[in-house]
Amino acid sequence: MSSTASTTEVVRPARTVRGSVRLPGDKSISHRYAMLAGLAHGTSTFANFSTGADPHSSLACMEALGAKVVKQADGTIVVTGVGGTFRQPAGELDCGNSGSTMRMLAGLVAPHPGTYTFVGDASLTKRPMQRIKGPLEQMGARVQLTDGHAPMTVHGGPLRGIGFSAPIASAQVKTAVLFAGLGAEGTTTLHEAVRTRDHSEHALRAFGAELERGRDSISIRGGQQLQAVQATVPGDLSSAAFFLCATLLFPDAQLVLDDMGMNPSRSALLDVLVSMGLKLQVLNLEEKHGELIGTVQANGAPVLKGAEITGDLPALIIDELPVLAAIGPYTRDGVTIRNAKELRVKESDRIALVVKNLRVMGAEVEEFEDGLHVPGGQALHGGVVDSADDHRIAMAFSVAALRATGETAIQGAEAAAISFPEFFTLLHSLAQE
Ligand code: S3P
Repeated sequence: MSSTASTTEVVRPARTVRGSVRLPGDKSISHRYAMLAGLAHGTSTFANFSTGADPHSSLACMEALGAKVVKQADGTIVVTGVGGTFRQPAGELDCGNSGSTMRMLAGLVAPHPGTYTFVGDASLTKRPMQRIKGPLEQMGARVQLTDGHAPMTVHGGPLRGIGFSAPIASAQVKTAVLFAGLGAEGTTTLHEAVRTRDHSEHALRAFGAELERGRDSISIRGGQQLQAVQATVPGDLSSAAFFLCATLLFPDAQLVLDDMGMNPSRSALLDVLVSMGLKLQVLNLEEKHGELIGTVQANGAPVLKGAEITGDLPALIIDELPVLAAIGPYTRDGVTIRNAKELRVKESDRIALVVKNLRVMGAEVEEFEDGLHVPGGQALHGGVVDSADDHRIAMAFSVAALRATGETAIQGAEAAAISFPEFFTLLHSLAQE
């Protein structure tokens, strides 16, 4: 996001964390619902749609492609789809800060005749797009990049199904391929070595498409039409991660999160938090449109242990790694993250920024090309944290600030609005001084 109107948020040390909240809808699911509803036949309604700027970038792009979007006063989003045929957009498709919008939508439009130019902000313009150009061109689309990045132009037209083995664990790339496969001739099969988040699979099925799951593959037949759905978006577990980590920091902390997304492909985070000492209960589990939803009750850790996050695990909790690293100094055993090179090509270089900001707050930390090591048993002091306009960095260090001595100033705090505009208001109400 642009840094023209940078705001600083001050976070003071807290005594504990207490409260009960219902979080806005999951960002990943909201993107997929916005896109598929925009293509579908009929009018879809989404309660508890994400309030983050990113899924609203997806909605704006769908409007540019001919869908009708109405935002109701209670936040419900109503999307009337184009019924299978996109309109040629009058201008560029502006994805803002959202890599999900750019990568997944490129796949969705690729089988549709027309020329689609995608642009984004300064951060998105630095992010790698070759990873979607490869499979989409194998299917028959032409994708022009600017030195491997956006601005990106997709020349859409008839595509053929392919078999594709994902070289990197990325749900965005998987989604681009499945969305393109939906409009291709024949069947598209995607193999993934690491099973990334499967919201696209559930969303496609919710909109009426058939998919087949193999042991490590997923196939979609082309030429299927989508029908509108009425859905409630479950609370965002990646947003919850900040408050769950805050809860970990205080032995007497208590937090209740209602209507949370509990999709097993996202819940490795909960296993990590429990292994670090979080007391956790999930109640009232139910399934809607393939997504699990439940109430989470969390209590602080009597002993805050550490974590070793290596192998396949980083890919499953990629968005939660900054906050897990940021609380690393307060753990008994430290936090080690390896095999997480992807963190360097997120909204910022999240390895470099976590290291920089931990040092600003007085921590010792070791940086690796693919991760970092934060020794445990360290005290932090307040400081001036640079979010570099990255939402998850701004929020991660606000959590670290709760156990620091003195105040912490989070520069570029408004970046939180990319995924979680209510973050600071909720943090201030949950953290007891
Ligand atoms: C997302 C996948 C992840 C994640 C991003 C959302 C998704 O990206 O970091 O915030 O909704 O599919 P990658 O697919 O690039 O790992």
